[in-house]
Amino acid sequence: MSGADIERARQILTGARRVAVLTGAGVSAESGIPTFRDAQTGLWAKFDPAQLASSEGFRADPPLVWRWYAARRARVSEAKPNAGHRALAAAAARFEQFTLITQNVDGLHVRAGSRNVIELHGNILRSKCFAECGVVFADPDALPPGEPPHCPRCKSFLRPDVVWFGEMLDPVVLERAERAATDSSVMLVVGTSALVYPAAGLPLAARRHGAQVVIVNPDETDLDPIADVCVRARAGEALPQILATV
Ligand code: APR
Repeated sequence: MSGADIERARQILTGARRVAVLTGAGVSAESGIPTFRDAQTGLWAKFDPAQLASSEGFRADPPLVWRWYAARRARVSEAKPNAGHRALAAAAARFEQFTLITQNVDGLHVRAGSRNVIELHGNILRSKCFAECGVVFADPDALPPGEPPHCPRCKSFLRPDVVWFGEMLDPVVLERAERAATDSSVMLVVGTSALVYPAAGLPLAARRHGAQVVIVNPDETDLDPIADVCVRARAGEALPQILATV
């Protein structure tokens, strides 16, 4: 982590009025939540996303998928927001407009005190009817018994309220995120490999609309070429330094 990059990032954010932030699994790594594509520890290095994170996989074996999400939900419930989450929450009030767009389903940004959070891929603590009859359980403790439980209205199965591979994002949510990105004067991109669209397209759209782009990631990503600065560091270390005095 170079001091010069931190300083450059701080300069870009100082005085910025409209900031949009895109976060990915990396921002929660220091809270003990595994990322998806880390070679050794990433979920997709150990589990088959087609089997566990798709509606076809769920239809093929509902208990397997439900139990896998239940295990992830338990881990998320035990996790605590880290210094990166907290720095973003604390910085929001210093900007005229600050929108936090996350791909994460762990709810840690909201638990850190962030408001105006757009959850692009849903939230693992919520469950909904697989048949989309409209039933949603916001509180996992209120779920009926069963693995998976049945929908109390239409008797179909309940499923995690997250976006699975091959599924569309909620168009209202996506439109809000696109507007925040293209309205922004600075887009801060933290802890994402930027391989999954439409999320990875948001910094590109922001750039096309004149925003400066700041990336925080210990590794290289496909978005690096459009960035004004890439801070090669972990979010929990870099964000407090970048955001403390802006
Ligand atoms: N701080 C910042 N970045 C980190 C840290 C950290 N402490 N640790 C890892 N990273 C970076 C990695 O270098 C990698 O670029 O975070 C990124 C995590 O990338 P992925 O595992 O691909 O996660 P993400 O980009 O959020 O995945 C996008 O894919 O699997 C789907 O729906 C799922 O929302 C997810 C989407």
